[in-house]
Amino acid sequence: MNVHDSEKVANLLYHAGHVAAEQEVDADLLVLNTCSIREKAEHRLYSELGALRAWKASRPGRIVGVAGCVAQQEGDAILRRFPQVDFVFSTHNLRLVPHMVSAARRGLRDARTDEDASLARFDLPDRHPDYEGSTPGRAFVTVMEGCDLFCSFCVVPTTRGREISRPADAIIAEARALVGRGARELTLLGQTVNAYGRHEARRAAAADTLPFATLLRRLDAIPGLVRLRYTSPHPAFFDDALVRAHAELPTLQPHVHLPLQSGSDAVLARMRRRYSVADYRDLVERLRAARPDLALTTDLIVGFPGESDADFEATLGLVREVGFVDSYSFKYSPRPNTRAAGFADAVAPERASERLDALQGLQRELTLRYHRSRVGSRCDVLLEGDSRRGGQASGRDPYHRVVNLAVTADARPAPGEIVPVRVIEATPHSLIAEPLPVPSGAVEPAAGPADEPVGRAIPRR
Ligand code: 5AD
Ligand code: SF4
Repeated sequence: MNVHDSEKVANLLYHAGHVAAEQEVDADLLVLNTCSIREKAEHRLYSELGALRAWKASRPGRIVGVAGCVAQQEGDAILRRFPQVDFVFSTHNLRLVPHMVSAARRGLRDARTDEDASLARFDLPDRHPDYEGSTPGRAFVTVMEGCDLFCSFCVVPTTRGREISRPADAIIAEARALVGRGARELTLLGQTVNAYGRHEARRAAAADTLPFATLLRRLDAIPGLVRLRYTSPHPAFFDDALVRAHAELPTLQPHVHLPLQSGSDAVLARMRRRYSVADYRDLVERLRAARPDLALTTDLIVGFPGESDADFEATLGLVREVGFVDSYSFKYSPRPNTRAAGFADAVAPERASERLDALQGLQRELTLRYHRSRVGSRCDVLLEGDSRRGGQASGRDPYHRVVNLAVTADARPAPGEIVPVRVIEATPHSLIAEPLPVPSGAVEPAAGPADEPVGRAIPRR
């Protein structure tokens, strides 16, 4: 969501006549987009701002803006504390960025963190012809924003505000335009993306939204779209239609990021997660029945107040049982204006660190086991760019795993292309693959309207 907010800001700046600088030293304007999900993320802003004092002073007229959830949380305080900052704006005020830059050029400093409960904040211009986005061949589409669930650990409901869903027609139009410009993969975004439209649908007349599964179905039908994903869903909002979509929609990819947080019912209840371990297990079974090869990834928190050894063991047990292909795990970090910030029985930091190590050790084992199970199999890879390992092209397979391709420089496929490969090696963090000859019939036709979605000719596995 934050990456996409940055894209929206960049696009607005292109429309206002700016162009992207290659490096910080060439830039005259820098906008820092911030995250406050954990204290560590927030602290990064403050260390970056320290470093930017010299950057700003070294050329007259340089401008610094701060966006995102820390901007929302701290507002004016950032302007007071950091004289090197010219403007501050929250996630509801992205479209003000061009005005704030102009004002800064006239020497005005301003913070705009007002809540905007209307749909107006989604009225953003189409992609500027010169702006390519941050991910070749792929694009994000916001379907809903905000969160009304108030999990007891989470700052998002206070920073991103109330849940609001965009009209389905606007989403589909944006998706079509992106595919028309060459996106092969779309990822639908929302804090609880599968809660899409739940408030709007209840208000009888304002049914501009569709059931989430129906929205997926409409997007799946867009000619030229090859891959469709959504993130992040909440386990409480999987109806049968959404589960069925995983069996039926050819573009819907076999990967779901399904935040679990804890494998203990007692902890889940204190987190106010609205599901039990049994509910989660049942959902995994339904999804796997629909799509047996589904890859599941998750988010986990260790050291939540009151988490006992037995609670943590239960998390380890469930992680092993589900066999997550990957997970993001974090030590609990108390956040302002959240319920859990007031909870007694904090877990000692050393204990939380030990638990994090144990959990991440288990995950490494599970990830490697999964990667090994893929050796010898075929899949398609959507190329993103060069890998961190020198000399290889890198991309993602349908299961969202990173795949590095052993190719020579002259045979290197371009970012945004989809190529069939065979997996030849498993590493802890990625798969290594060799390109396969493109099967006849899978050659990409020239861009333009087509009756049949072009991507369908490309075998899925
Ligand atoms: N402390 C630690 N992790 C958190 N997350 C959200 N809030 C906190 C917090 N206060 C994690 C959750 C969520 C992910 C985006 O960040 O696991 O799913
Ligand atoms: Fe935060 Fe819970 Fe909402 Fe996710 S569902 S954004 S964890 S409050």
